[in-house]
Amino acid sequence: MKLNFRALILIAVLGLVVFRYLSAEHPLSLASIPQYTADVENGKFIFNVGGCISCHASPADAEVPSGGKPLKTPIGVLYPPNLTPDTETGLGGWSDLDFVNAMQRGLKHGGGHLIPAFPYTSFAKMKVEDVLDVKAYLASLPPVKNAVPQDEVLALPLVRRGLGLWKWIGLDTTAWVADPAQSESWNRGAYLVNGPGHCQECHTPRNLFMALDTAKAFAGGPHPDGTGKVPSMRGLVARGRFKDQADLVSAFQNGEVLGYDHISSGGMGEVQNNLSKLPEAELRAIAEYVLSLK
Ligand code: HEC
Ligand code: HEC
Repeated sequence: MKLNFRALILIAVLGLVVFRYLSAEHPLSLASIPQYTADVENGKFIFNVGGCISCHASPADAEVPSGGKPLKTPIGVLYPPNLTPDTETGLGGWSDLDFVNAMQRGLKHGGGHLIPAFPYTSFAKMKVEDVLDVKAYLASLPPVKNAVPQDEVLALPLVRRGLGLWKWIGLDTTAWVADPAQSESWNRGAYLVNGPGHCQECHTPRNLFMALDTAKAFAGGPHPDGTGKVPSMRGLVARGRFKDQADLVSAFQNGEVLGYDHISSGGMGEVQNNLSKLPEAELRAIAEYVLSLK
């Protein structure tokens, strides 16, 4: 009996050591940040593709990314942080490395893992230059002082630690590579959809571990916010959802206004609103890629 008790303690301690080891943070080092002069215009473009404003808007002004608008998730209500360059409550004091570690490794400024309701699992696929451009664009905005409320998640510190385990399955940090068999515009679309656009975060179903089930990429499934369903993005023309590439581009540009009601609810309306701000050539590239999904 006594021995068993000791054995249990030993197992518990070993378990804790393994847990701490496996849930550790793996930040990028300064060497992974290139010497680079950021392009603010491109940063604004990526900000729109990435739909940052949909989650990081202020409750008071839908156009200002000073954070705090509640985001309901199955694990609780989150308050996405202030992205304006305020030094106390925003990104003012952040280095490029801090920002890249948040966007591409899901690491919280000051320590801890970020909750993947923030789609860093897709942003990890972005070119680091595009990430730095977004930071430069955000830095060009007027600073707004706004301390957002604490996330309302049960046992938040434990959840943050446990996410380190989840990242072994849920966060794929291999860089995105172009497919040489496809056109340049198809590859541009593929990059925008799978990287900054994070379309898979809703349109790809998740497995038992809440990781994207890539074998079923874009096949649709339960909505990640816990209510309703997200439709498939495969075979949209064959299934008569859209006539052709021009029709899909028009849907992205006009949405409900021109009667494209099937891209308006469950967060897709916000996505469409963000897409409508993109240059038409970029939307054509996105549509070319989307319509190639079989
Ligand atoms: C679907 C909603 C959503 C979208 C879209 C989104 N974010 Fe976030 N973001 C969040 C949430 C929620 C958090 C906080 C997660 C947490 O508390 O662990 C967050 C956290 C962050 C952080 C980390 C802040 C910190 O304190 O460490 C940065 C930086 C950030 N987001 C930037 C962006 C940028 C830039 C974009 C657009 C390219 C973007 N986000 C798009 C929801 C989103
Ligand atoms: C926040 C979750 C979410 C994200 C992110 C998202 N979608 Fe959607 N999408 C939806 C939902 C929900 C619908 C169904 C909307 C409706 O029926 O009103 C939808 C519908 C669509 C449709 C119409 C499908 C049909 O059968 O008619 C297309 C096309 C589409 N999305 C493309 C995209 C693209 C491209 C992206 C990335 C830029 C994207 N979506 C990102 C949730 C999302």
